[in-house]
Amino acid sequence: MDNIFYLQTKNTTYVLGVDKFGLLRHIYWGKRINRREFSLDEMTETNSNHSELDNALCEYTVFGGKMYRNCAFKCTYSDKCRDSVFLFKHAKQEENELVITLTDKVYKADLILHYITYPDSDIITRYAEIENHSSGDILIEKLSSCEVNLPGELSYNIVNTQGGWGAEFQQQSTELKAGYLVFDSRKGTTGHTNQPIFIAHRNADEASGDVYFGALGYSGNFKVECQRDYVGITRIVLGMSDFDFSYTLKSGEVLASPKAYIGYADGFADMSNEMHRFSVNHILPRSFANKPLPVLYNSWEAVGFDVSCENQLRLAKKAADLGCELFVMDDGWFGERNSDRAGLGDWFVNREKFPDGIDSLIKGVNDLGMDFGLWFEPEMVQRDSDLFRAHPDWIYHYKTRVNGELRHQLVLNLTKPEVENFVFDSMDKMLSMHNIRFIKWDMNRPFSEIGADNLENEQEIWLKHTAAVYRVADRLKEKYPYLQLEACASGGGRADLGAMEHFDSVWTSDNTDPLDRLTIQNGFSLLYPIKCMRAWVTDWNSDKRPVSIDYRFASSMQGSLSLGANLDNYTSDDMKKAAEYVALYKEIRNTVQFGDMYRLSVGDGGDYWATQYADENQSVLFAMSNAGSLDNKRYKRLKLKGFQSDKMYTYTVDSKRCENSGEYLMNAGITIEFCGPLQSKIVVFK
Ligand code: DGJ
Repeated sequence: MDNIFYLQTKNTTYVLGVDKFGLLRHIYWGKRINRREFSLDEMTETNSNHSELDNALCEYTVFGGKMYRNCAFKCTYSDKCRDSVFLFKHAKQEENELVITLTDKVYKADLILHYITYPDSDIITRYAEIENHSSGDILIEKLSSCEVNLPGELSYNIVNTQGGWGAEFQQQSTELKAGYLVFDSRKGTTGHTNQPIFIAHRNADEASGDVYFGALGYSGNFKVECQRDYVGITRIVLGMSDFDFSYTLKSGEVLASPKAYIGYADGFADMSNEMHRFSVNHILPRSFANKPLPVLYNSWEAVGFDVSCENQLRLAKKAADLGCELFVMDDGWFGERNSDRAGLGDWFVNREKFPDGIDSLIKGVNDLGMDFGLWFEPEMVQRDSDLFRAHPDWIYHYKTRVNGELRHQLVLNLTKPEVENFVFDSMDKMLSMHNIRFIKWDMNRPFSEIGADNLENEQEIWLKHTAAVYRVADRLKEKYPYLQLEACASGGGRADLGAMEHFDSVWTSDNTDPLDRLTIQNGFSLLYPIKCMRAWVTDWNSDKRPVSIDYRFASSMQGSLSLGANLDNYTSDDMKKAAEYVALYKEIRNTVQFGDMYRLSVGDGGDYWATQYADENQSVLFAMSNAGSLDNKRYKRLKLKGFQSDKMYTYTVDSKRCENSGEYLMNAGITIEFCGPLQSKIVVFK
C-alpha cells in the first residue's frame, strides 16, 4: 500500500500508484472517496501481440519499450537512443502538492510530475518537467502537460470546438468509439478553430452526470489527443503540440510544460462554475482578478483606421454620457497606419492625425471621468514601415523563401532578445509618457516561413515565441501595476487560459452580432471565466438582420459589457436606453462576472436562450428568443436555479412586480412570454 498516492479535493478523489516494476499507474478519478482502500492490480501478458502494458493505465506514458499507445513524452538521447524508461525515483507529498520524480537511470534524466490541489476547488493543476543530469544534450520531442485515463471501457463523447474567424467557440461533440480524435493548432497561437480543452462524458447534462474536463494554460501550438484503444480505455493527452517541435535540453537544464487544469464534475453547470471560480481565484493576474472589469468603449467599429483627436473626443463624450468607465482608441493612431497596408511596427503617434500628440485626447477622456486605453499589435511588422526598413531581418524567414503575408503583415521573431526588448520598449515608451491604463494587445495573423537562424534548434520557436509574449506582458504589468491588459487575436484567436494568466481579459470574437454571439459566448463559458469575456454592443449586421438595442445589450451584458457602436448614429432615445442598460449592468455585474451560471435553455438546440447568473445577493435571468418564428409557442415556463428555498425574492417581469419563494421559483418556475423573434428579457431577482 506504500506507493499509492491520494489527491483529495472538496468533492473528488484522484489516486495513482507505483507498481512493483516502478511504473507510475493511474488508479482512480471521480467522486470523493474518503477511505484509503485502493490497490494496484497485477498485469500479465495476454498473448504475444498484446503487451501486458496494454492493460496498464499510465499517469504519463513515455515513448519506449512495449508502449504502443499514444505517449505524453518523447525524446532522443545524445547517443541517438529514442527509447525512454522512466521509473519511480521518489515522491514528495505536501498538503497541496504531490511531486513524483521518475528517472531514466541509464541516461540520467528525471521526469517530474506535479499535481497541485486547492482547498477551495475541485481542479487539479498538472504539469511536467524534464531535467537533464547527463553531460550530453537531450532532444525533447514531446512534453505534454498531462495524460488522463477515463474510467470504464464504454465510449465517451468528447466536446471541443470547431470554429473560424467570426465563429469562435462552436461546440462539437464526437463520440469516440475507436482510434484517435485530435484537436490542435499549428498556427503559432491558439487560433479560432479548436480549443486546448477537453470535456468528456457519456450522457451528462447541465444538472448531472459524470464529466471529466481539462484546459491547457498555453497560447501557442497545442494538441489534445483522445484515444480509445482496443481494450476500450479512453485516454487524453493534453499539452503543447509536438508538430514541428523539439527542444534541445542542455546538460543541467530543466524544461517545464505549460500547466493543465483538470477536473471531474457532476453535470456541465458544476463543471463551468468550478472552472470560472478557479480561474478567478488561481489563474487571472492578481491585480484585477477580484475586481469587476470596467465598462469599456472601443472606437474600432465606429471609425476604423480613421481616428482623430476630434472624433475620439466626440465619441468619448457620448461614451461617458452612457456611463462608460474606460475609453479605448483602437488601430490607426500610429506611424503611417491609414489602412491595413502599412505602419505596424512604428509605435509612435501619427502627427497628421494628432498634430499635438495624444495627451490632449487622454486629458479630455480623463476629464470625462474615464480611463484611457490604447491598441497595439506588437508582434507584427509591415514591409511599409520604418521598422521593417531598418530591420528586415527581424521577422521569421528563410533566406530561400518569400514570406507569405496575411493582412499585409509579417511576424516578428520574438525569439531574438533585441526584438523582444523592442516589443517591450515600444509599449513601455508610450506608457511612461502618457496616462494609459489599458492596452489591447492584438495579433492578427498565424505564423509562416518560421525560420529563426538565431536559434541553434529552430524548432524551439513555437514555445519561445509564446514565452516571450508572456514575459513582455508580465514585465509591463510589473512596471505599471495599474495597467489592464487585454489579449486579442483577430477576435478570439488567443482566448485561452494561458493568455488569461497574463492578461486581464480577452476579446472573444470580431463577430458582434448579438444572436451569433450567444453561441460563441456559450462555448466560451464552458471552461473559461465569464468575467474575462469582453462583449461589445455594436451595430454589426444591422443592415442584414435588424436587431433592437435591447437585444444587443441583453447579449453583451452576459459577459464583460463593453460598447463599440457608432454612437454618432444613436438617436436620443437610443442614448437614453443605452445609459439605462449600462446603469443596470453596473448593478448586476458582480453577479454576472463572479456568480454561478446556469444554462436553462441553450438556444442553438432549441428556440430560445435562457441563462441565469446568481450569487448570494441577487440573481439575473437573461431570456432571449431566437431568429425563428415563435408564433405558436410564445410561453416558456422556466424553472430557475441557485435560490435559497426558504427566502422570498422580488422581481419584475413585463412591468409586473412579483414576489415568490426560492422554493417556488426553483420548482414551479416563472413564465416568460416571447411575442416574436429576437426578443430579450432581463429579470433581476432580489
Ligand atoms: C482585430 C481585432 O479583433 C479588432 O477588434 C480590431 O482591433 C482590429 N484587429 C484592428 O485592426
